[in-house]
Amino acid sequence: MNIEVVSLKAQPAQCVADVLILGVFERGALPAATAEVDLVCGGAIRARIEAGDVGGKPKQLTKLYDLPNVAAKRVLLVGLGEASQLSAARYLDVVREALKALRNGPARKAASWLAELAVQGRDAAWAVREHVIAAETALYRYDATRRKPEKPDGLAELAIATHDETSVHAGRAIAHGMRRTRELGNLPPNICTPLHLADVARQMARDLTNVEVDVLDRAQMQALNMNALIGVARGSANPPQLIVLRYRGTRERKPVALVGKGVTFDTGGISIKPAAGMDEMKYDMCGAASVFGAIEASARLGLPIDLIGIVPAVENMPDGDASRPGDVVTTMSGLTVEVLNTDAEGRLILCDALTYARRFEPETVIDIATLTGACIVALGKHASGLMTKHDDLADELLAAGVEVHDRAWRLPLWDDYQTQLETSFADVANIGGKNAGAITAGCFLARFTEGLRWAHLDVAGSASDEGRKGGATGRPLPLLMQWLMQQAA
Ligand code: BES
Ligand code: MN
Ligand code: ZN
Repeated sequence: MNIEVVSLKAQPAQCVADVLILGVFERGALPAATAEVDLVCGGAIRARIEAGDVGGKPKQLTKLYDLPNVAAKRVLLVGLGEASQLSAARYLDVVREALKALRNGPARKAASWLAELAVQGRDAAWAVREHVIAAETALYRYDATRRKPEKPDGLAELAIATHDETSVHAGRAIAHGMRRTRELGNLPPNICTPLHLADVARQMARDLTNVEVDVLDRAQMQALNMNALIGVARGSANPPQLIVLRYRGTRERKPVALVGKGVTFDTGGISIKPAAGMDEMKYDMCGAASVFGAIEASARLGLPIDLIGIVPAVENMPDGDASRPGDVVTTMSGLTVEVLNTDAEGRLILCDALTYARRFEPETVIDIATLTGACIVALGKHASGLMTKHDDLADELLAAGVEVHDRAWRLPLWDDYQTQLETSFADVANIGGKNAGAITAGCFLARFTEGLRWAHLDVAGSASDEGRKGGATGRPLPLLMQWLMQQAA
């Protein structure tokens, strides 16, 4: 479904749409637009509230039809909770629920006045931008590998009441990036291979302004001594690709580098995973997908930044030629790694990609990776794990996540944990034992990022929802874009 978001300045009662989306607070208080419609239709909304048919509990939804003097056939009244307690989280929830209720029709065209609401601690531009993003998020439907419906139905157009075209545009740019991130995450692993990701990157470079692409193949990686990266791909019939996207919105500043884990399927390799739920390892390239999304959103926003996206793309499979537990590989940095578990492959591809990032002399490097099950044990699905030695960078990223309700939580990267990675047979082992698995993965990466202003986001939990009806969430793109916009400002 393609939603056109158009800004709208009309009076709600005169708006020609199939459905108006209006808010209602708990205890009968009405936001301005709802009060205006109520006045025009002779108090019909208030009467329904008093009769108990309409309520303002958070996310409570009621449809009214054929209100007198109202041009739209239907009005969807959305409960907002207490007037004094409209938090950012509740606002986003309410917008998403309203659009989900409408997604399957029969209305084709909706017009919303929710972006006029005052949200605690946020300005008007935020409400408009986040309305667009929340609506697109709610209306997203994966259908790349489903039979196409005969004729499209459901909601096709959304108008948002605002004068702020700039924020609508910004929301749309970010929503497009998120859609890219989710779509790549959801694609099946037989389609979304490393070569497919490289093709998508090339297509993006053609379609987007100021975006360039460079793809390194196995031989080129070999020449750079990226043996940890290449080693992971040995068991796969799908060749590895190192994809480098660059969005140049300025030439006056040092670039920001985003490095995304692009394991298009993670069987675990010779340290093979159990069968149950293994299909979800198609999401092991969600870090890469968020890098693609960030490049797309930044280009569409025209941010005045220089952004490098580095994606090591591989498939982790068992095979006669696969790397085995006990193998020692020499990384591009010169450090040797003992591969004690072939299922700890994310850090192996990232260490070489992070070393490669140095050539761009980045101001800041952020890697995004579905790196450890241990991060899900620690934080669940609600928070991304943030690790960095730079307190100022941690504060920036945590605050960006709070602002757009895509939150991260910091875990320590103390050197005390480094001893867990010691081995007699190489400079470092790729696993750190049963304790603090998310942190020791971060500590492994820290050995390759000395001297860089670097942060690591473990999105193993936040990047996807579980189960057959789950799917890629598009996180942590909102956090990243909020941070990048602040860098640009
Ligand atoms: N891709 C997984 C991490 C993961 C697990 C992401 C579950 C999403 C859901 C990663 O490559 C992995 O297998 N990590 C191992 C590391 C261990 C062998 C040290 C893990 O978490 O079990
Ligand atoms: Mn793994
Ligand atoms: Zn993995």
